[in-house]
Amino acid sequence: MPELSLAPQHLCESAALQECGDAVTFEVLEWGRSVPAFAVRYDQVALAYLNRCAHVPAEMDWQPGKFWDMDKRFIICSVHGALYDPPNGQCVSGPCPGARLEAIKLSEEAGQVYWYPTERFQPLF
Ligand code: FES
Repeated sequence: MPELSLAPQHLCESAALQECGDAVTFEVLEWGRSVPAFAVRYDQVALAYLNRCAHVPAEMDWQPGKFWDMDKRFIICSVHGALYDPPNGQCVSGPCPGARLEAIKLSEEAGQVYWYPTERFQPLF
């Protein structure tokens, strides 16, 4: 069994995450399987979730890295239009009310963004 890594993983520069801008996409190992994830900035806070809708486990971006609705208020799933509240990933409208996106913990330090592995989410290398 590979050793568990819990060290913060560099994701990108802080400047790469603009307020309600395009996402920075990345991959993590979820229980050993590579899965897509994304990071965005909302209300000045960097946030990351798996790119997996809580309705049907599909990728949500309508074009790579495009996760915002027209008003840039909610994260939207392009498949059936579920709207997710950015700070907590909870579905507030659409086919899966109350369900949540899977969050990945981020931190920012000295202009850099890091994500935190867990037992479930590990770095690829
Ligand atoms: S798959 Fe996302 S709303 Fe249905």
